[in-house]
Amino acid sequence: MAGGRGARLSFRTMKGILLAGGSGTRLAPMTQVVSKQLLPLYDKPLVYYPLSTLMLAGIREILVISTPRDLPLFQSLLGDGSRWGVRFEYIAQPNPEGLAQAFVLGRDFVGSDAVTLVLGDNLFFGAGFGGQLRDAAARVSAEGGATVFGYRVRDPERYGVAEVSPDGRVLTIEEKPTRPKSSLAVTGLYCYDNRVLDIARSLKKSPRGEYEITDVNAEYLRQGALRIETLQRGMAWLDTGTVAALQDAARFVEAIETRQGMKIGCPEEVAFRMGYIDGAQLERLAAPLASSEYGAYLRRIAAEAP
Ligand code: DAU
Repeated sequence: MAGGRGARLSFRTMKGILLAGGSGTRLAPMTQVVSKQLLPLYDKPLVYYPLSTLMLAGIREILVISTPRDLPLFQSLLGDGSRWGVRFEYIAQPNPEGLAQAFVLGRDFVGSDAVTLVLGDNLFFGAGFGGQLRDAAARVSAEGGATVFGYRVRDPERYGVAEVSPDGRVLTIEEKPTRPKSSLAVTGLYCYDNRVLDIARSLKKSPRGEYEITDVNAEYLRQGALRIETLQRGMAWLDTGTVAALQDAARFVEAIETRQGMKIGCPEEVAFRMGYIDGAQLERLAAPLASSEYGAYLRRIAAEAP
């Protein structure tokens, strides 16, 4: 699909960018002194969920982008990543000028590699998702192009929207259209080959004054290199843009975790199951959290492992 260009891009490392800035005005006053992505979502900070998604994709080098005010808090929460067997770098976004700015700010970090962007307020959960994501990331690393993930929603006008042909090809992609051509929202998870760096750098601001990720995707579409993976109905994609959505997401996590006794979006567990850390390290991570239910969970996972 990415043609000859893809062949030249063979087997790049896949890096990750977690975009966790923005003004958070829709959640004020909760976000008056702290970033939205650091707020709790049931039993852990919101940022743990998209971070776990990147780690589940097999990505071990991750750039965290946030506001100059909040970046030190992310650094203090996440550190350099070594205790989870990954590597975090940090960079500030001075102003929230759009999602595509992630690739301008992250240019040196990405270097000549491929990159997956996840929005710091998106939660993905479902059977088979890890495998689907790893396959998509591996394909982009090997063949080039871009892959986005579509999800059917009742209110597509709130999102980027893709129109797809019966054989699965993307026909159009639009940002928050007043008359959506389909109910397929484009989620906040995007895998790109290295050309994203130049595409993002050449963008103009949209009428609402932002460098739009949808314009990046539209350029891949123009180049015949945009693929969409539809997330099946058993999957959950939750957004946390409003107080009500945040509460709904927290209730969802609570219901699943209580019923199954397994956590959603636990980076320590993902690190362990992906083989980034061993059981002894998981025990060490559990020790300082021992008085919380979260710490007890880590200890249990380490003990139950074969
Ligand atoms: O959630 C998926 C949707 O995310 C996509 O369907 C849309 O195509 C995409 O534009 C985006 O729409 P949103 O309206 O949700 O974008 P929002 O401006 O809310 O930004 C998403 C997150 O990224 C939010 O947590 C804040 C953060 N952000 C946003 C901007 C504009 C940044 O860190 N920096 C920014 O410059």
